[in-house]
Order: sequence, then structure tokens, then C-alpha cells
Amino acid sequence: MLDKFWQFFSHDIGIDLGTVNTLVLVKGKGILIREPTVVALHKKTRQVLAIGVEAKRMLGRTPAAIETVRPLRDGVISDFDTTEAMLRYFIHKVHQTPGKGGFFSLPKIPKPRIVVGIPSGVTEVERRAVQDACLSAGAREAYLIEEPMAAAIGAKLPVEEPEGVMMVDIGGGTAEIAVISLGGMVINKSLRVAGDELDEAIVNYMRIRYGMLIGEKSAEEAKIEIGSAYPLGKDDLATVVRGRDLASGLPKSLKITASEIREALTPTISQIVSAIQEVLEETPPELLTDIVERGVYLAGGGALIRGLDKKIAEETKLPVYIADDPLTSVVRGCGEVLENLDLLSKVRVTGGLR
Ligand SMILES: Nc1ncnc2c1ncn2[C@@H]1O[C@H](COP(=O)(O)OP(=O)(O)OP(=O)(O)O)[C@@H](O)[C@H]1O
Ligand SMILES: [Mg+2]
Repeated sequence: MLDKFWQFFSHDIGIDLGTVNTLVLVKGKGILIREPTVVALHKKTRQVLAIGVEAKRMLGRTPAAIETVRPLRDGVISDFDTTEAMLRYFIHKVHQTPGKGGFFSLPKIPKPRIVVGIPSGVTEVERRAVQDACLSAGAREAYLIEEPMAAAIGAKLPVEEPEGVMMVDIGGGTAEIAVISLGGMVINKSLRVAGDELDEAIVNYMRIRYGMLIGEKSAEEAKIEIGSAYPLGKDDLATVVRGRDLASGLPKSLKITASEIREALTPTISQIVSAIQEVLEETPPELLTDIVERGVYLAGGGALIRGLDKKIAEETKLPVYIADDPLTSVVRGCGEVLENLDLLSKVRVTGGLR
């Protein structure tokens, strides 16, 4: 009875609580929030000053009294209170967006049912933390589904069929590799190596090769601008990286080519490719045959690294495809299971009432 009441006023929402980006989808409305997972806090009072894009702009630029926090590391919550504050803010924000029902979207009583994507390798304690953060941020029910499953559903792959489907979701904190059949993960591997490590690899490369210190943000920009996993055929592509000369301590800017960035990225990318190969080696023959026919699907921001599909195809001898709009696959998968509660009951890891 009370449940019906809440359903009437609140929206069901899907959340991709990512290490780098948080996306919120409202059932029937689509993706309403797409923000970096960054929060700016007052150091002493822990008061939240900014969330998302606004907080990311402050990264590395804050005065002593303010701190910018990335509350997730390697796909899991490392700062519980900040994560909860961020979720609460997003949940309230989507309820304030005027809906078709006009005055029905009352901001004061958001008690949504939430489906959230979590990495497949997390511990019970880490799962509990995500669920508790959703519940204390105002959810009526919180269900967790594993990211590669969500990504496969978002990519419209036939996860419920007795057929092998391989999904590789490369985010900021984790690379998730899974073979799915009959609504479950048959084999999976979660590496805590992904986009953030690629950025670190560029920072290290610049330090060792050029004696130059650059920030994580500049490293990420260079990666997105010219990063690649396979020779581009236009290796003259270049970008200017700014930082500080370690010897003189003075500002320095340097032109870096695509092949140098690729050299920096290669060891990390090789770790991801090896993990894919290991999962394939463990895959039962029937499912492997399906994957040979259907191919490997890539999702997450990492899928956008130039030539990564080609590199994986070359190393595994399998066809490789990039999911449509790979940055939103997980949240769209969460949205899909909100529409199909049968599927939710099959694929959820855990979840339930408060
Ligand atoms: N065009 C691009 N080329 C290369 N990398 C990209 C591109 N666009 C985004 N990325 C990288 O993708 C990562 C973010 O991807 P995504 O939003 O899927 O991660 P996430 O879901 O927040 O993290 P996780 O799933 O690990 O918790 C970042 O490391 C970002 O630098
Ligand atoms: Mg992700």
C-alpha cells in the first residue's frame, strides 16, 4: 500500500556509479545526469561545495580550505559519506526536473527504486556499501547488477539466451570481462586496471622520458586526444602537454606524438588484452563457438581508445565490436531492467527493501 504511494510520486532510476563518471537514467525519461564522479568539500566542516562538472573544474586548483575528492577508486566506494552525499544530490536533482505530470514531481519525497551497476569483482562489504549509500540517500529499494551484465543488456545483446556473449567494459577504475549465457555470468574477471592507470602511465612516461611533471587531468586529455592501442597510420598526430620541468621547477610545454603516447599506454593495454585471453581460455567450448561467431563487445570509455578493437581482434583472432555509445551502455542496461522486472530478478546480485 505504502509502496504504491511512493511509486506514484517517485521515479524509478538506474545509476551507473562509475569511478570517473556517474550517470543517472529515469525510467520513461532517459539519461538525465552525466557528471564526473567528483565532489568538492570544505576540508574542516566536510560541507559539500560542488558536485560533478563544477567540482572537476576545481581538481588540482583548490585553495587550502577546499578539497576535491573522487569518492570511488578502482570501481568501489573509498569515501562512503561523500558518495552518499553525491547520490542524494543526484536523486533529488532528477526529482526536481519537471516531468510530464507537472506538479506530481514533488521534490520533497523522492523514494525511488534504484538499480545500480557495480563491478563484478567486489566483495560483500563493498556491495553492502553501495546498497547502503543508495538506501540512505533516499532509495525505497536498491538492486545491484554487475557492470558487464548491465553493459551487455544496454548493448542489446541476447543475455537470456543459451548463447555465449562476451562483454568487455573498460571504465576508469576497472576493466570487466565477462562471458554471459542464460542470464548469468559463466566466467568473469575484474581487473583493477583501466582508464586511470592509462593516465598514470602517461604521467610516468613524461616524468621518466622528459623529466616533466604533468597532472592527471592533462594526461587524460592527451590520452583522449591522441591515445591509441594500434598504429594509426597517421602517427604524426600530436598534442601539446603542459606541466613543470622537474629539474628547473619552471613551467614547460612539450609536443608529444601519438606513437609516444601509444608506447606509454602499451604495457597497461597488454594487461587488459591478456586478461581477455585468459577468460577465453577458461570459456567452455560451446560458448567459445558462439563468441567466435558473434564476436567480442567493448563498452565503457576505454572502448573509445583508438585502435583498441583492432588490437584485441589481432591478439584474440576474434571479431571485435564497439557497443553503440559505449559510455552509456551500463546505465542504459540498468534502465532496461527497470522496465523488465523479470530480467531484474534473474540478473540482480542482491537487493531488496530497506
Ligand atoms: N575518447 C576516449 N578515448 C580514450 N579514453 C576515453 C575516451 N573517453 C573517455 N575515456 C576514458 O574512459 C574512462 C571513463 O570511462 P567510464 O565512464 O566508462 O568509466 P566509469 O564507468 O566511470 O569507471 P568504472 O566503470 O571503472 O567504475 C576515463 O578513464 C576516460 O579517460
Ligand atoms: Mg563503468
